[in-house]
Amino acid sequence: MSASPRQVASGQAFGKVILLGEHAVVYGSPAIALALTRGAEAEVRRSERTSLWLGSSEYRIGPAAMADSEPLPLRAFRALLEELDAPELEARAALAIPAGAGLGASAALGVALARAVSGLLGRATLEGRCAGSVARAALAWENVFHGNASGIDTAAAEHGGCLWFTRAAGAAPLAVGGSLRVAVASVEPGVSTRRMVEAVAERRRKDPSGTDRVMDSIQALVARAREVIAGRERAELGRMMTQNHELLVRLGVSTPGLNQACEWALRAGALGAKLTGAGGGGCVVALVDDATRAAVLDAWGERGLVCLEATAPEQGSA
Ligand code: MEV
Repeated sequence: MSASPRQVASGQAFGKVILLGEHAVVYGSPAIALALTRGAEAEVRRSERTSLWLGSSEYRIGPAAMADSEPLPLRAFRALLEELDAPELEARAALAIPAGAGLGASAALGVALARAVSGLLGRATLEGRCAGSVARAALAWENVFHGNASGIDTAAAEHGGCLWFTRAAGAAPLAVGGSLRVAVASVEPGVSTRRMVEAVAERRRKDPSGTDRVMDSIQALVARAREVIAGRERAELGRMMTQNHELLVRLGVSTPGLNQACEWALRAGALGAKLTGAGGGGCVVALVDDATRAAVLDAWGERGLVCLEATAPEQGSA
């Protein structure tokens, strides 16, 4: 007797901050991400007509011929469902982190939805992690929003923890000596990752050697950070994050608001501070420890910034 198919399934995923290496990662350099404990949740159930609820907004899939004129979330959902060869279903997804702020909200939604659909189809997941097809489905979703996404956001949304990521090899857990603690402030509305990635590509077309020099410096910082994170040299890691911010300023992706928020954190005692994600607005991340965390959060809170925190516990590498 064959078991009847599942009618309902759910999935979860993490948000993330990039500690070092955003933008350069699009061009093949490594980057280091730290997952947030919060992210996105999704629930799917079999239905006669496919639809997607994102929070309180409903999107209904129309005929395939209309696909190109559909809103972005629907096109992304269509790409995700095609990758998983999914039946008609109703999906509901919600975020526990701010959207459009560089915290990987769209990737978290994509992974949570892909996990839920995969669960509905009874596909194997390994120790709660996505099987490869789910990771590909989440990336298909993400590419509709971001065009040339490196995949770091979906990898962090999927795996959690502190990750080393390259486009060529994907994600691997990074050895963390002692715990790693960050504070995050949401500074201002961000612009789309797609727009910021395109702005960097445009800068590179106009000034290839200048832009590549900045990318090379970011790559060198990330490579050195691997050892620094495995050891316990937090002050050195903080300095490297601040240097990474200065390089992102030179790439043209920071804003006066993000620079100011980094400055407030550093003056309050943060070991380092930088924008995180695509830039153009959004969030900054500061490296803190037990002695500095409260002062940094207070400095931002007094200026009305919304804050959250993340910690990577000590972990071995893969
Ligand atoms: C966005 O979180 C990070 C970027 O490097 C884009 C990407 O890697 O897809 C700006």
